[in-house]
Amino acid sequence: MASAPTTVTVTGAGGQIGYALLFRIAAGDMLGGSRPVRLRLLEIPQGVRAAEGAALELQDCAFPLLHDIEITDDPLTAFNGANIALLVGARPRGPGMERADLLAANAGIFGPQGAAIGAVAADDVRVVVVGNPANTNALIAAASAAPHVPADRFTALTRLDHNRAVGQLAELLEVPPGEIADVIIWGNHSATQFPDVSHAGLADGRSVLEALTERLGGADAATAWLDDVFIPRVAKRGAEIIEARGSSSVASAANAAIEHVRDEQLGTHRGWTSAAVVSRGEYGVPEGLVCSVPVVSRGDGEGYRVIDGLGFDARGRARFEASVAELVAERDAVRALGML
Ligand code: NAD
Ligand code: LMR
Repeated sequence: MASAPTTVTVTGAGGQIGYALLFRIAAGDMLGGSRPVRLRLLEIPQGVRAAEGAALELQDCAFPLLHDIEITDDPLTAFNGANIALLVGARPRGPGMERADLLAANAGIFGPQGAAIGAVAADDVRVVVVGNPANTNALIAAASAAPHVPADRFTALTRLDHNRAVGQLAELLEVPPGEIADVIIWGNHSATQFPDVSHAGLADGRSVLEALTERLGGADAATAWLDDVFIPRVAKRGAEIIEARGSSSVASAANAAIEHVRDEQLGTHRGWTSAAVVSRGEYGVPEGLVCSVPVVSRGDGEGYRVIDGLGFDARGRARFEASVAELVAERDAVRALGML
């Protein structure tokens, strides 16, 4: 007997990432090849027509797993019975906008959406926030969904940063990306993030640090490459993409969102991945902040679990603390606006 469809809500479905996401979800890339999906697309009124256009094309693909599509500008309709929600729609930074303006504009979106999730989503709902500033938007949505939905059902996307880090290492070390394990993104999805390779390894048994030392001709050269090239390149890759394309990352962001949900739902396989999850105080991160850490999932419905107790060197610890301090400042700015 065919299983009941999983209700997947996508916000900002008429936008660029939405367009890249919907076809992959409907094709089964996110939940596997045997789980039918019911898509609920949320847009603001000006975006509804674009979402309707995407729905026409989805119909024209005749995906066997796509049960039905509903398009709405009403959050209560969009999140009704949602098992999985991808919160993509967000207010982008405009000319002259300060970070606090961006936080306030997005709190006005993610607060009501969190409340709607709390009111009408399915009991097992899991939410990933993609729209920026993703970590703090997730914090706001989780707070607004309480007490109806446990905060740990909310996560924010740092899988794109994780994949970017793997991609940079794969290029330099001339190995396939799939042979690199246990890279970590710590902190915020912003330029303060700390991409960390100190626990990473290769399929041939070498650590990434050993391989970098061999490739670059010494430990000092490896450290210099990590400090001067790798960390800034990964942390500022979003800006590099914007510079090259004229708009922010789309297909890679959609791919990362698919992989984030797929691994959370079906399980991680080799080593850990990175996701921003609600802190329970691990690594000294203030409780409740949505902070990127190493995680695994067993695919048992319990979601991501934090890999706790890893060590840092002093410089790594300082980088991580700087990113956590930025998350604290974002939380405090939203609180000062009375939105948390
Ligand atoms: P986009 O402007 O093409 O699309 C955004 C869509 O959201 C638009 O169609 C808009 O109408 C809709 N929208 C705005 N407010 C909404 C609301 N209240 N409810 C429902 N829909 C709403 O932008 P995009 O390129 O798709 O990017 C979306 C977001 O993802 C941006 O915030 C971007 O910065 C962020 N992003 C995050 C990552 C990450 O790794 N976390 C990566 C890339 C982009
Ligand atoms: C990205 O990482 O590509 C996005 O968050 C866009 C940005 O502003 O960097």
